[in-house]
Amino acid sequence: MDADLAQPAARALLAFWRAAGVDMDEAEAVYAAAPAAAPARAANAPVSKPKPKAKTPDAPVETAKAMAASARTIAELRAAVENFDGCALKKTARNTVFSDGVDDAPVLLIGEAPGKEEDEQGKPFVGRSGQLLDRMLAQIGLSRTNNVLISNTIYWRPPGNRDPTQGEIVACLPFVERLIELSRPKLLILTGKAAAQTVLRRDDAVTRMRGRKLNYTREGLEAPVNALVMLHPAYLLRQPQQKRQAWVDLLLAEAWLEELGVARGARP
Ligand code: URA
Repeated sequence: MDADLAQPAARALLAFWRAAGVDMDEAEAVYAAAPAAAPARAANAPVSKPKPKAKTPDAPVETAKAMAASARTIAELRAAVENFDGCALKKTARNTVFSDGVDDAPVLLIGEAPGKEEDEQGKPFVGRSGQLLDRMLAQIGLSRTNNVLISNTIYWRPPGNRDPTQGEIVACLPFVERLIELSRPKLLILTGKAAAQTVLRRDDAVTRMRGRKLNYTREGLEAPVNALVMLHPAYLLRQPQQKRQAWVDLLLAEAWLEELGVARGARP
Protein backbone atom coordinates (compact mmCIF):
# COMPACT_ATOMS: atom_id res chain seq x y z
CA MET A 1 0.00 0.00 0.00
CA ASP A 2 1.09 3.58 -0.72
CA ALA A 3 2.61 5.23 2.43
CA ASP A 4 0.17 8.19 2.25
CA LEU A 5 -2.77 5.78 2.42
CA ALA A 6 -1.19 3.49 5.01
CA GLN A 7 -0.77 6.21 7.65
CA PRO A 8 -4.42 7.25 8.16
CA ALA A 9 -5.48 3.58 7.94
CA ALA A 10 -2.98 2.60 10.65
CA ARG A 11 -4.02 5.53 12.85
CA ALA A 12 -7.70 4.56 12.51
CA LEU A 13 -6.83 0.99 13.48
CA LEU A 14 -4.93 2.16 16.60
CA ALA A 15 -7.90 4.36 17.58
CA PHE A 16 -10.26 1.42 17.07
CA TRP A 17 -8.28 -0.87 19.39
CA ARG A 18 -7.84 1.87 22.00
CA ALA A 19 -11.62 2.52 21.98
CA ALA A 20 -12.09 -1.23 22.46
CA GLY A 21 -10.10 -0.94 25.71
CA VAL A 22 -6.79 -2.39 24.49
CA ASP A 23 -3.55 -0.76 25.79
CA MET A 24 -2.08 0.56 22.53
CA ASP A 25 0.66 2.74 24.09
CA GLU A 26 3.49 0.62 22.74
CA ALA A 27 2.09 0.51 19.21
CA GLU A 28 1.43 4.26 19.25
CA ALA A 29 4.91 4.97 20.49
CA VAL A 30 6.45 2.96 17.66
CA TYR A 31 4.17 4.74 15.23
CA ALA A 32 4.97 8.20 16.61
CA ALA A 33 8.70 7.45 16.33
CA ALA A 34 8.39 6.48 12.63
CA PRO A 35 9.46 9.21 10.19
CA ALA A 36 6.58 10.94 8.40
CA ALA A 37 6.13 10.02 4.73
CA ALA A 38 8.20 12.31 2.48
CA PRO A 39 6.15 14.62 0.23
CA ALA A 40 6.04 13.55 -3.42
CA ARG A 41 8.71 15.16 -5.62
CA ALA A 42 7.93 16.54 -9.06
CA ALA A 43 9.57 14.40 -11.76
CA ASN A 44 11.87 17.19 -13.00
CA ALA A 45 12.63 18.80 -9.61
CA PRO A 46 16.38 19.01 -8.76
CA VAL A 47 17.57 16.47 -6.21
CA SER A 48 19.09 18.34 -3.28
CA LYS A 49 21.95 16.63 -1.45
CA PRO A 50 21.31 15.98 2.26
CA LYS A 51 23.40 18.28 4.46
CA PRO A 52 26.04 16.44 6.53
CA LYS A 53 24.95 16.34 10.17
CA ALA A 54 27.18 18.06 12.73
CA LYS A 55 29.00 15.48 14.85
CA THR A 56 27.84 15.99 18.42
CA PRO A 57 27.76 12.47 19.89
CA ASP A 58 27.58 13.52 23.54
CA ALA A 59 25.45 16.63 23.03
CA PRO A 60 22.43 15.45 25.11
CA VAL A 61 24.66 14.42 28.00
CA GLU A 62 26.61 17.68 27.90
CA THR A 63 23.34 19.64 27.77
CA ALA A 64 21.94 17.61 30.68
CA LYS A 65 25.10 18.26 32.72
CA ALA A 66 24.93 22.01 32.10
CA MET A 67 21.21 22.23 32.86
CA ALA A 68 21.52 20.10 36.00
CA ALA A 69 24.51 22.05 37.28
CA SER A 70 22.73 25.37 36.89
CA ALA A 71 19.78 24.25 39.06
CA ARG A 72 20.20 25.58 42.61
CA THR A 73 17.06 24.09 44.13
CA ILE A 74 14.99 20.95 43.58
CA ALA A 75 12.23 23.13 42.09
CA GLU A 76 14.74 24.51 39.56
CA LEU A 77 15.96 20.99 38.83
CA ARG A 78 12.39 19.86 38.13
CA ALA A 79 11.99 22.78 35.70
CA ALA A 80 15.30 21.86 34.05
CA VAL A 81 14.19 18.24 33.56
CA GLU A 82 10.88 19.43 32.12
CA ASN A 83 12.75 21.64 29.63
CA PHE A 84 15.30 18.98 28.65
CA ASP A 85 14.77 17.57 25.15
CA GLY A 86 17.79 15.26 25.00
CA CYS A 87 15.99 12.02 25.89
CA ALA A 88 13.91 10.61 23.01
CA LEU A 89 11.41 9.05 25.45
CA LYS A 90 9.97 12.52 26.05
CA LYS A 91 8.45 12.43 22.56
CA THR A 92 6.33 9.36 23.27
CA ALA A 93 5.48 10.05 26.94
CA ARG A 94 2.39 11.92 28.09
CA ASN A 95 4.08 13.59 31.07
CA THR A 96 7.45 14.20 32.64
CA VAL A 97 7.65 12.24 35.90
CA PHE A 98 10.18 13.90 38.17
CA SER A 99 9.40 13.47 41.85
CA ASP A 100 6.83 13.18 44.58
CA GLY A 101 7.11 13.74 48.32
CA VAL A 102 8.95 16.23 50.51
CA ASP A 103 11.78 18.14 48.83
CA ASP A 104 13.98 18.41 51.94
CA ALA A 105 13.18 14.91 53.20
CA PRO A 106 15.85 12.93 55.08
CA VAL A 107 15.22 9.93 52.80
CA LEU A 108 15.55 9.99 49.00
CA LEU A 109 14.28 6.92 47.17
CA ILE A 110 15.14 6.34 43.52
CA GLY A 111 13.35 3.77 41.36
CA GLU A 112 13.64 2.85 37.71
CA ALA A 113 11.24 4.47 35.25
CA PRO A 114 7.60 5.57 35.10
CA GLY A 115 4.97 3.06 34.00
CA LYS A 116 1.51 3.65 32.54
CA GLU A 117 -0.15 5.18 35.62
CA GLU A 118 2.90 7.31 36.44
CA ASP A 119 2.95 8.60 32.85
CA GLU A 120 -0.74 9.48 33.08
CA GLN A 121 -0.48 11.25 36.44
CA GLY A 122 3.02 12.74 36.12
CA LYS A 123 4.04 11.26 39.51
CA PRO A 124 6.42 8.40 40.35
CA PHE A 125 5.23 5.15 41.92
CA VAL A 126 1.46 5.64 41.80
CA GLY A 127 0.55 2.30 40.16
CA ARG A 128 0.43 -1.15 41.79
CA SER A 129 4.12 -1.24 42.64
CA GLY A 130 3.85 2.28 44.06
CA GLN A 131 1.03 1.21 46.34
CA LEU A 132 3.15 -1.69 47.58
CA LEU A 133 6.09 0.68 48.05
CA ASP A 134 3.95 3.02 50.17
CA ARG A 135 2.86 0.08 52.36
CA MET A 136 6.47 -1.06 52.75
CA LEU A 137 7.70 2.43 53.70
CA ALA A 138 4.84 2.83 56.17
CA GLN A 139 6.12 -0.26 58.02
CA ILE A 140 9.22 1.73 59.00
CA GLY A 141 7.47 5.05 59.64
CA LEU A 142 8.23 6.62 56.24
CA SER A 143 5.79 8.31 53.89
CA ARG A 144 5.89 10.67 50.95
CA THR A 145 3.77 13.16 52.90
CA ASN A 146 6.28 13.35 55.79
CA ASN A 147 9.83 12.25 55.27
CA VAL A 148 10.54 10.74 51.83
CA LEU A 149 11.27 12.19 48.40
CA ILE A 150 10.68 9.73 45.56
CA SER A 151 12.18 9.95 42.09
CA ASN A 152 13.42 7.72 39.26
CA THR A 153 16.46 6.97 37.10
CA ILE A 154 14.45 7.94 33.98
CA TYR A 155 11.85 10.71 33.78
CA TRP A 156 9.73 9.50 30.88
CA ARG A 157 7.90 6.20 30.35
CA PRO A 158 9.66 3.82 27.97
CA PRO A 159 7.07 2.63 25.39
CA GLY A 160 5.34 -0.55 26.52
CA ASN A 161 7.39 -0.45 29.76
CA ARG A 162 10.48 -1.83 28.02
CA ASP A 163 13.81 -1.52 29.87
CA PRO A 164 15.43 1.91 29.42
CA THR A 165 18.40 1.88 27.02
CA GLN A 166 21.90 2.85 28.11
CA GLY A 167 21.60 6.08 26.08
CA GLU A 168 18.39 7.06 27.87
CA ILE A 169 19.90 6.30 31.27
CA VAL A 170 23.07 8.25 30.55
CA ALA A 171 21.11 11.27 29.28
CA CYS A 172 19.11 11.47 32.54
CA LEU A 173 21.98 10.66 34.93
CA PRO A 174 23.25 14.25 35.44
CA PHE A 175 19.80 15.17 36.80
CA VAL A 176 19.71 12.13 39.08
CA GLU A 177 23.15 13.00 40.47
CA ARG A 178 22.21 16.64 40.94
CA LEU A 179 19.06 15.59 42.81
CA ILE A 180 21.19 13.62 45.28
CA GLU A 181 23.53 16.59 45.63
CA LEU A 182 20.71 19.09 46.23
CA SER A 183 18.62 16.93 48.56
CA ARG A 184 21.63 15.68 50.57
CA PRO A 185 19.60 12.84 52.09
CA LYS A 186 20.58 11.14 55.34
CA LEU A 187 19.72 7.89 53.55
CA LEU A 188 19.52 7.15 49.84
CA ILE A 189 17.40 4.10 48.94
CA LEU A 190 17.90 2.61 45.48
CA THR A 191 15.19 0.16 44.44
CA GLY A 192 15.96 -2.33 41.72
CA LYS A 193 18.76 -2.98 39.29
CA ALA A 194 18.55 0.13 37.09
CA ALA A 195 18.75 2.55 40.01
CA ALA A 196 21.38 0.60 41.96
CA GLN A 197 23.73 -0.05 39.03
CA THR A 198 23.35 3.41 37.51
CA VAL A 199 23.71 5.50 40.64
CA LEU A 200 26.41 3.40 42.29
CA ARG A 201 28.14 2.79 38.92
CA ARG A 202 28.45 -0.91 39.66
CA ASP A 203 27.66 -3.97 37.58
CA ASP A 204 26.80 -6.24 40.53
CA ALA A 205 23.45 -7.97 40.75
CA VAL A 206 20.95 -6.41 43.15
CA THR A 207 21.14 -9.56 45.26
CA ARG A 208 24.83 -8.81 45.90
CA MET A 209 24.29 -5.13 46.73
CA ARG A 210 21.18 -5.37 48.93
CA GLY A 211 21.27 -5.98 52.69
CA ARG A 212 24.48 -3.96 53.17
CA LYS A 213 25.31 -0.44 54.32
CA LEU A 214 26.81 1.27 51.27
CA ASN A 215 28.17 4.71 50.41
CA TYR A 216 27.33 6.85 47.43
CA THR A 217 30.23 9.10 46.61
CA ARG A 218 31.17 11.27 43.67
CA GLU A 219 33.61 14.02 42.87
CA GLY A 220 32.27 17.36 44.02
CA LEU A 221 29.97 15.87 46.65
CA GLU A 222 30.53 17.42 50.10
CA ALA A 223 30.41 14.08 51.92
CA PRO A 224 29.57 10.46 51.04
CA VAL A 225 25.86 9.64 51.25
CA ASN A 226 24.58 6.57 53.13
CA ALA A 227 22.98 4.24 50.62
CA LEU A 228 20.93 1.05 50.67
CA VAL A 229 19.83 -1.13 47.77
CA MET A 230 16.43 -2.79 47.99
CA LEU A 231 14.45 -5.18 45.86
CA HIS A 232 12.09 -3.33 43.52
CA PRO A 233 8.39 -3.53 44.50
CA ALA A 234 7.46 -4.56 40.93
CA TYR A 235 9.82 -7.53 41.33
CA LEU A 236 8.16 -8.38 44.65
CA LEU A 237 4.76 -8.38 42.95
CA ARG A 238 6.11 -10.91 40.44
CA GLN A 239 8.05 -12.95 43.03
CA PRO A 240 6.07 -12.73 46.29
CA GLN A 241 8.32 -15.35 47.90
CA GLN A 242 11.07 -12.65 47.91
CA LYS A 243 9.07 -10.48 50.33
CA ARG A 244 10.99 -12.07 53.20
CA GLN A 245 14.21 -10.50 51.82
CA ALA A 246 12.42 -7.18 51.38
CA TRP A 247 11.42 -7.32 55.03
CA VAL A 248 15.05 -7.88 56.05
CA ASP A 249 16.03 -4.82 53.97
CA LEU A 250 13.34 -2.71 55.60
CA LEU A 251 14.54 -3.68 59.06
CA LEU A 252 18.09 -2.70 58.10
CA ALA A 253 16.81 0.68 56.82
CA GLU A 254 14.84 1.18 60.04
CA ALA A 255 17.85 0.41 62.24
CA TRP A 256 20.09 2.73 60.20
CA LEU A 257 17.54 5.57 60.30
CA GLU A 258 17.29 5.12 64.06
CA GLU A 259 21.09 5.34 64.34
CA LEU A 260 21.06 8.49 62.18
CA GLY A 261 18.37 10.08 64.37
CA VAL A 262 15.84 10.42 61.55
CA ALA A 263 12.35 11.19 62.89
CA ARG A 264 9.73 8.74 61.67
CA GLY A 265 6.02 8.22 62.13
CA ALA A 266 4.38 5.35 63.99
CA ARG A 267 4.05 1.97 62.22
CA PRO A 268 0.46 1.36 60.97
N1 URA B 1 8.50 1.69 38.91
C1 URA B 1 9.49 2.58 39.06
O1 URA B 1 10.64 2.21 39.15
N2 URA B 1 9.18 3.85 39.11
C2 URA B 1 7.94 4.28 39.04
O2 URA B 1 7.73 5.49 39.10
C3 URA B 1 6.92 3.34 38.90
C4 URA B 1 7.22 2.04 38.83
